[in-house]
Amino acid sequence: MAGAVRFSVSLEKALLKKFDAYIGEKGYTNRSEAIRDLIRDLIVEEQWEAGKVETVAAVTLVYDHEKLDLKSRITELQHEHHDQIVSTMHVHMDAHNCLEIVVLRGVAAEIRTLGDQMISLRGIKFGRLNLATTGQDLP
Ligand code: NI
Repeated sequence: MAGAVRFSVSLEKALLKKFDAYIGEKGYTNRSEAIRDLIRDLIVEEQWEAGKVETVAAVTLVYDHEKLDLKSRITELQHEHHDQIVSTMHVHMDAHNCLEIVVLRGVAAEIRTLGDQMISLRGIKFGRLNLATTGQDLP
């Protein structure tokens, strides 16, 4: 790996054992790759918190389509923020429930607010916001 620096870390045996078990479950084959990903995640999370970066996110919503007020509020929100909505996928899960995946693009702080607005609508049965990054500013 070009420009890689080696450094040593001291930690308690028990903690290292737990860390190894954790990264093993995640499928990592070595500690370096796991630690690199953790560091990248922290830096990206900090950039999102600061709201500085342009990013993309996916909002997952589950709701009952028979709740017409909720259904129209979700659509209304998406039209109000059409410049930040890239795409919406709608899946009819069963006779009543809908799964909607909304892809957002914009300044991290703004799309996080929009995602949270959707998730917190009354009647949403499940809501998740996942911000994503290309990691282009990171090694
Ligand atoms: Ni549906």
